[in-house]
Amino acid sequence: MKLTLTPRPLDTQAKDGWIIFVQNKKPLLSGNGALPKLLTEQIKKSNFSGDFAQTAVFPMFGKAKADQLILVGLGKGNTFQIETLERAAAAAVRAGQKAGIKSFATESTGSIKSVSETAFVHTVARGAAWGSYNFDSFKTKKKKRTAEPSLVFAGTCKNAAACRRALAEAEIEAEALLSTADLANLPGNLAPPQKIASWSAKMAKETGLACSVLNKADLKKQKCNALLSVAAGSGTDAKIITLKYKGTDPKSKPIVLVGKTITFDSGGLSLKPSKHMQWMQFDKCGGMAVLAAMKMVALLKPKTSVIGILTVAENMPSGGATRPGDIVKSRSGKTIEILNTDAEGRLALCDALDLALTHKPAAIVDLATLTGAVIMALGHTAAAVVGNNHRFNQKLLKAAEAGGERLWELPLWQEHKDDMKGTFADLQNISKSSTAGTITGGAFLSEFVPDDIPWAHIDIAGTAWEETPKAWMAPGVTLFGARTLIEWIKGI
Ligand code: BES
Ligand code: MN
Ligand code: ZN
Repeated sequence: MKLTLTPRPLDTQAKDGWIIFVQNKKPLLSGNGALPKLLTEQIKKSNFSGDFAQTAVFPMFGKAKADQLILVGLGKGNTFQIETLERAAAAAVRAGQKAGIKSFATESTGSIKSVSETAFVHTVARGAAWGSYNFDSFKTKKKKRTAEPSLVFAGTCKNAAACRRALAEAEIEAEALLSTADLANLPGNLAPPQKIASWSAKMAKETGLACSVLNKADLKKQKCNALLSVAAGSGTDAKIITLKYKGTDPKSKPIVLVGKTITFDSGGLSLKPSKHMQWMQFDKCGGMAVLAAMKMVALLKPKTSVIGILTVAENMPSGGATRPGDIVKSRSGKTIEILNTDAEGRLALCDALDLALTHKPAAIVDLATLTGAVIMALGHTAAAVVGNNHRFNQKLLKAAEAGGERLWELPLWQEHKDDMKGTFADLQNISKSSTAGTITGGAFLSEFVPDDIPWAHIDIAGTAWEETPKAWMAPGVTLFGARTLIEWIKGI
């Protein structure tokens, strides 16, 4: 999406459509010209309630320089979050595009009490771009190739330079999200580990990141036997992809982002029922969020150094597959009884976490579609954070809020760790109690990170994928996590 700013007021903008946000049933428009008054009255009379992400698109019949108006609800002020604004902007663009609108304009001033001018521009721009996205490249009946949509922010910013910077950031972040979504939405047959590796290498080359790939032989040398056990039943080999960004502060210890990248999770010999298997191409979404974040990092050039590690494998059953009961020795030296081959994410992650330690990190965050249990705990509205440092977890929660994503902290207690101790090996990959699935997944991972390195595990199994169309997005990957990560990194 083409994003621009103009100091000229909204009513001078001859565009296909103007986006007008509505909060507490009132249009958020600066000034008191004829339009705000007219809209306030009309909204009162109509059944447009201004509920979150509700839209109304209507023609102006020459009464304004816009052909159509798009009203979009932000709901009530007391329920407002940055997420509300980002999704409402996306919903406005989706509704507008359905009505044939290609050029959009909105006011840059925002007029939402709790949102700064720059946060408004940043959030609306990124949301609008995300709203314009559809994964439709496999529809053979091609829709007419339309020009790239555009959005102009009209009206004087108090700090024009800061607004321009916010817009430039949003543009970079949106491009990273949309280009990565094209990879992340690919099904298992089209995005095997090799494809993830070649995409990463190409992206790294284009953006100036360093990229290295460990293949099967390298992984054997590195003793990444836990990861290798996941790929044992697959016709395609495991990989670990590392992307490196050197911060503008050369003394900075790197932070390391680790992403679970299971290109397809059948469950292995502990086979999933088909109903649960059908969207398991989404199991690479931890790695996809890390990839998107790394692309943002490469182009935004933050102070801190950042390393992204994708632990990649396909989990399949076959004569060569890992059997329930098998024991492997992980890279760390700890031994693991694999009692359920469907708990493969933690096996892939534990070797990558151990590898992360070799970079002497200041902090580690891993993202993974790790457990169905997180959907039981939090539904599809928030991701769970489990870590070894409460204050660090809270930092991530703050970043998530600013990034328009919802995180919720779960505890990690000794009892949870005890639950993961093995009978014949050091650890087992499922809990003995079959309770607290999300936490015990985290408890397993915690065994691979020393307590003095802040580490957090984010379980995105409930938030990484939209199965049905939403007002603010088409079905497919959300890239949940990337927005939180970049917000956190920008603040370091
Ligand atoms: N990728 C799945 C997690 C998942 C399951 C996400 C269902 C969304 C819906 C993960 O690899 C998995 O299978 N986890 C198991 C763990 C269990 C065997 C301890 C699960 O959650 O059932
Ligand atoms: Mn699984
Ligand atoms: Zn999985």
